[in-house]
Amino acid sequence: MSNESIGAERLQRRMARGAEFLGSEVAILCGAMSWVSERNLVSAMSNAGGFGLIACGAMSSELLDAEIAATKALTDKPFGVNLITMHPQLMDLIQVCAKHQVSHVVLAGGLPPKGSVEAIKETGAKVICFAPALSLAKKLIRSGVDALVVEGMEAGGHIGPVSTSVLAQEILPELAEQVPVFVAGGIGRGEAIAGYLDQGAAGVQLGTRFVCATESIAHPNFKRAFLRASARDAVASVQIDPRLPVIPVRALKNASSELFTAKQREVAQLLDEGKVEMLEAQLQIEHYWAGALRRAVIEGDVDNGSLMAGQSVGMVTKEEPVAEIIATLMAEAAHALEKRAA
Ligand SMILES: Cc1cc2nc3c(=O)[nH]c(=O)nc-3n(C[C@H](O)[C@H](O)[C@H](O)COP(=O)(O)O)c2cc1C
Repeated sequence: MSNESIGAERLQRRMARGAEFLGSEVAILCGAMSWVSERNLVSAMSNAGGFGLIACGAMSSELLDAEIAATKALTDKPFGVNLITMHPQLMDLIQVCAKHQVSHVVLAGGLPPKGSVEAIKETGAKVICFAPALSLAKKLIRSGVDALVVEGMEAGGHIGPVSTSVLAQEILPELAEQVPVFVAGGIGRGEAIAGYLDQGAAGVQLGTRFVCATESIAHPNFKRAFLRASARDAVASVQIDPRLPVIPVRALKNASSELFTAKQREVAQLLDEGKVEMLEAQLQIEHYWAGALRRAVIEGDVDNGSLMAGQSVGMVTKEEPVAEIIATLMAEAAHALEKRAA
């Protein structure tokens, strides 16, 4: 066997469990990205052998229904749907997924509310949850979750406080044999994928790396901002009021951080005046982000909109088809594993 095929064979072996779990050829998920992860990118991802996820975000049941149907028209490969736990119609959205026999549902944005994991499992779908710490990961497994995503603070979008490398070290040795664990956050090249697979990951989830895919509908201005940016431009948002806990968001620096400061002040004042409860206040912050991201991704307003991006953004150097991105990542990973043979 040539060195090259040794690497490829090792990679395939390390990805086998994750790929089988997903029903895909390779154990690479394209993480759901609000406004970006719609029918085009999701179907392109699954058609290229990876696993696409529709970002439901703040969509209504009717919109999600239409998006799933449209995605199905573009691919006969499996794909999943990412639902935000805070969504007021979460249970209805689960039923929309059931109607379309969606094979995998990801619950994001907080611990799953009571009954949601059971409701998804009853539909026959597999449930994937984000595990922000080892103790919570164990709890999620006890509650019947089928797989975990471990996402570090290098990622784009909403982030936790801990880095990917630390979370991977804490969680993989303990839990990787119990359920498939997918590592996310800060992955821009295949060598890193090989490293996490070696640590026991079943696969990986990338977001930032796929934003500039040819099939991604992100506005050309949004893609251009990614192509120009380096790792240090992707910074976490700052919480300005200790009484209003907001989940930090990692995005490219621009004028929108001042708009976010103003929004936090406005919502904090509503809280002070007793005009809104904490949950409503947090929902208002999330609606702000959804709107700001839409402004940048769809309308191309890269000054005032939110340019959510992970630290791996510096490794995004050109617009290219999803299949090429996957092929590059796989070749880099295989090469890294081939070198292990020496
Ligand atoms: C523009 C953008 C939007 C995102 N929106 C969501 C979302 O709606 N729901 C979610 O669970 N994750 C969201 N994420 C996170 C991704 O799904 C993925 O986990 C993350 O991008 C992985 O880290 P990476 O960016 O370092 O590759 C978003 C990320 C980006 C860059």
